[in-house]
Amino acid sequence: MKAAVVSELGAPLEVHDVPVPSPGPGQILVKIEASGLCHTDIHAARGEWPVKPKIPLIPGHEGVGIVTKLGEGELPVADGDRVALPWLGHACGHCRHCVAGWETYCQQPQYMGYTMDGSYAEYTVAYASHVVKVPDGVGAFDAAPLTCAGVTTYKGLKVAHPQPSETVMVVGIGGLGHLGLQYARAFGSTTVAVDVEEEKLQLAKELGADHVVEARGDLLESMTGIGGADVALVTVPSPSAMQTAHAVLSPNGRMVIVGLPAHDRLELPIFDTVLTGKSVIGSLVGTSNDLADCFALHARGLTKVVAERRQLETSTTALRRSWPAAFPPGSCSTCAEPHGSGRPTRGDKGRQNDRRCASRLRSARGLLCARLTLAPSERIRAADGHQLKAKQLTADTDDIERDARTAEPSGPPAEN
Ligand SMILES: NC(=O)c1ccc[n+]([C@@H]2O[C@H](COP(=O)([O-])OP(=O)(O)OC[C@H]3O[C@@H](n4cnc5c(N)ncnc54)[C@H](O)[C@@H]3O)[C@@H](O)[C@H]2O)c1
Ligand SMILES: [Zn+2]
Ligand SMILES: [Zn+2]
Repeated sequence: MKAAVVSELGAPLEVHDVPVPSPGPGQILVKIEASGLCHTDIHAARGEWPVKPKIPLIPGHEGVGIVTKLGEGELPVADGDRVALPWLGHACGHCRHCVAGWETYCQQPQYMGYTMDGSYAEYTVAYASHVVKVPDGVGAFDAAPLTCAGVTTYKGLKVAHPQPSETVMVVGIGGLGHLGLQYARAFGSTTVAVDVEEEKLQLAKELGADHVVEARGDLLESMTGIGGADVALVTVPSPSAMQTAHAVLSPNGRMVIVGLPAHDRLELPIFDTVLTGKSVIGSLVGTSNDLADCFALHARGLTKVVAERRQLETSTTALRRSWPAAFPPGSCSTCAEPHGSGRPTRGDKGRQNDRRCASRLRSARGLLCARLTLAPSERIRAADGHQLKAKQLTADTDDIERDARTAEPSGPPAEN
């Protein structure tokens, strides 16, 4: 089978032929239909967190597919079921955290695409006890990003108990944040979306944010007209973004940290925290029940997944766009190709964005990518309509590339 493999930490993903794995006792073999790309996959492949992943590693913890083979034992899923393979690949099931419904904090965890091989492959082995059935009415391509980005932000908000009368600020409207914003709306709170990218703020508006704030300015000042935040959900892997979010919390405010920066330290003011009763809460993904909730909310039409589709076999360029370590100096920050004549982008030292970049033109036309979803092309063909969509995407890209070559003088201005 084909699988995207990280052979050494910091090296780019490579698509290899590898043997189809065999399910052991309690396990299942899943034929993958779609798998989301989470920023965690990038942290993992760079090996920039305190605990390192297994190597070689097949990343991916937003896999969705069909059960095709059962290992030994009595299993809670059957051949042919559509299941999601979340970050928590396995937990002991007996400790007090597991028994209390907090299996994500089990002290003997296995993580998909980190301590065990994940879903950037045509087939993946998973523990039947920790996959979640995908209900009818939720397609594989939507279910994939919900499996981590969705459940993480849903749970992150749940632990902060947002009220309809409160203001929820979501910092970072990427893969996680664009879903977090929608859950905040589902909780009935007033929402503030914060990002550094104009396109992400535009997306937040389209998704119904009550306020959007560009993080480059003075966030405290920008929040003056809005009032402070009762809840801040920080998805950005940046300690300074967390410090700023903490500063704009209202008295009794709760900051939930889900972003996981390589720099593992956060300095916060004690007096402000104590005198205004602020809380800082860490939150790791969500439980099987939380994910089932996310699927149910999606089936009810309360969330919309914004994603771009790529085939696994041609995913390398798509991944490089999200993988700065693999960018040579001078390459375009949108698509990673070395167009060569762009001006440096703001806050993006050493990389350049070029007005001839086809991907940049795509996002200028509103087809922006909040999240990439990868799928083996075989599954794209097998699933109804997906081949057509994949072909349309290719055709779009070709057209845009042609436009980019012919319409350069009137293309969008490079960022500065
Ligand atoms: N706690 C968990 O269980 C959990 C689960 C999944 C992912 N994560 C972590 O969450 C983080 C985000 O993942 P993602 O997939 O959403 O990433 P992403 O790259 O899709 O999104 C990040 C967003 O933050 C924005 N941003 C960057 N700097 C900013 C700043 N200073 N202020 C405001 N916005 C800024 C970017 O423009 C982008 O929209 C990663 O660190 C990932 O490892 C944690
Ligand atoms: Zn994730
Ligand atoms: Zn346990």
